[in-house]
Amino acid sequence: MFETPLTNIDYDKVYEPAEDSFLLLDCFEQEYQSIQQRFTGRVPVVTEIGTGSGIVTCFIKQNILPHSIFFATDINPTSCSTAAETIKLNDTHETHPFTFTAMQMNLTSAVRSNKIDLLVFNPPYVPAENVPEIPKDLDDSSWLDLALLGGQDGMMTTWEVLNNLENILTPEIGIAYILFCARNKPDQVAETMKARGWKVDVVIHRKAGWEVLSILLFQK
Ligand SMILES: C[S@@+](CC[C@H](N)C(=O)[O-])C[C@H]1O[C@@H](n2cnc3c(N)ncnc32)[C@H](O)[C@@H]1O
Repeated sequence: MFETPLTNIDYDKVYEPAEDSFLLLDCFEQEYQSIQQRFTGRVPVVTEIGTGSGIVTCFIKQNILPHSIFFATDINPTSCSTAAETIKLNDTHETHPFTFTAMQMNLTSAVRSNKIDLLVFNPPYVPAENVPEIPKDLDDSSWLDLALLGGQDGMMTTWEVLNNLENILTPEIGIAYILFCARNKPDQVAETMKARGWKVDVVIHRKAGWEVLSILLFQK
């Protein structure tokens, strides 16, 4: 079993790793051979959208695809600095001196199109009236709302990514692992994406309290 990365998080400002984060770690532990095979002979570009504490990217860097270029993004600037600290704390840079950069941005807006080989996203998936406004102040207490609230069906932010997936992933080779809760209606999402030509598989699912979480793999 792979080790869970250490973190040092200000829980008032950055999403605390929870069942969803740990489901992603288990997903990558389960998938690591097929992921390694897929990217054999390549230095893949790995991007986690909404990296939070950086625990998921750090786990992938340590255990799954150490020889990769990592771009972690988050709308929350404190998440970006925390993710960089998580990478340092776990010494992955010393063991696997491949690039890690955490950048504040909306989704993948500052990453070049069609350059991401492995995309990971644990989105704000809780249904809510709206996706919250971006706070203006670093010390604003509402940054954490952005980690959780996903607007209608909890899917507004996730649909922004899915609708643009064709332009985000590397043609033919790129794959995306995206987490859903049952209220996001992942079956309907899968059908819609299949109708657009995507292959969609449920990789792992788990009951977490009153929520059922699942991770879907999207590939062409
Ligand atoms: C559920 S948390 C997941 C954090 C971390 N990946 C994990 O699994 O523990 C969602 C993260 O997405 C970030 N986020 C929300 N909206 C975003 C957007 N439009 N672009 C980039 N990041 C966003 C939040 O700030 C938060 O860190």
